Amino acid sequence: MKHLLTLSQLSLDEVLLILEEASEFAKGKQWKVSEPTFVANLFFEPSTRTKCSFEVAARKLGLQPVPFDVQTSSVQKGETLYDTVRTLEAIGVRAVVIRHPHDRYFDSLQSISIPIINAGDGCGHHPTQSLLDLMTIQQHFGTFQHVTVAIIGDIRHSRVARSNAEILTRLGATVLFSSPDEWKDETNPYGTYVDLDSAIREADVVMLLRIQHERHGEKIGLTKEQYHQQYGLTVERASRMKARSIILHPAPVNRDVEMASSLVECERSRIFKQMENGVYVRMAVLKRALESYERRMQNGYYFEK
Ligand code: CP
Repeated sequence: MKHLLTLSQLSLDEVLLILEEASEFAKGKQWKVSEPTFVANLFFEPSTRTKCSFEVAARKLGLQPVPFDVQTSSVQKGETLYDTVRTLEAIGVRAVVIRHPHDRYFDSLQSISIPIINAGDGCGHHPTQSLLDLMTIQQHFGTFQHVTVAIIGDIRHSRVARSNAEILTRLGATVLFSSPDEWKDETNPYGTYVDLDSAIREADVVMLLRIQHERHGEKIGLTKEQYHQQYGLTVERASRMKARSIILHPAPVNRDVEMASSLVECERSRIFKQMENGVYVRMAVLKRALESYERRMQNGYYFEK
């Protein structure tokens, strides 16, 4: 497969192979490119974790990230996304990582030959976030079968919820959703809605979502404190989690809104482990993308559509 745009494109075997390779990188496996190879990170939306961990991952593989800043690029002169990526391809960049506010921005890029790795498209998908979440769950439980994952919060606007619910279901996990009525997503068939207290009581993984303020102006008539009390993981609710259950959050965390600030680094929390795993998952994804591109070029499929 040329690009990594959504996890639904990947077979379960492909997903498990990426997780296996990411685990090997976590244990110190070395793999480096044998000649100068350029990659570029195109972020049309703010990011700390995804952008920086793709850069760290690239450097660990011996890749050379080309600095690209949307604000000082010819995007500001009206250059299209297609022409921007086509230009990078022409000057020798061998893979691009893109975050963009538009759902399915990548539909206009299908004919690009170099691999495109989706780092988040609007409310659509965030495949590498899902992969690092899967790695974190696998590290703790050793399996996805019969693991119950409660995804809690702003489900409707969350690309993390969309990516995770689909792949977790395919891997044999049970997905529960809990959300204010206004932020339910009736288009996502991969979870069952339950009330918050049931979700927290039944879950092996309590996955909280950030409220996507920048993606919608929808107010639900609650103060931050009221949201925390009604829909957040309070210290009291956390005390009712199952004995072995863990807390995930893609971050950045709105402290004392989605979850109590004191829980961010509590014993159950894997939030900073998720970030660490993000580097290894992105190393595995970049390696796979470059190897696939190399094979296509050697086989004369360079202009494969
Ligand atoms: N989790 C996540 O995507 O974080 P950033 O927006 O900081 O990349």
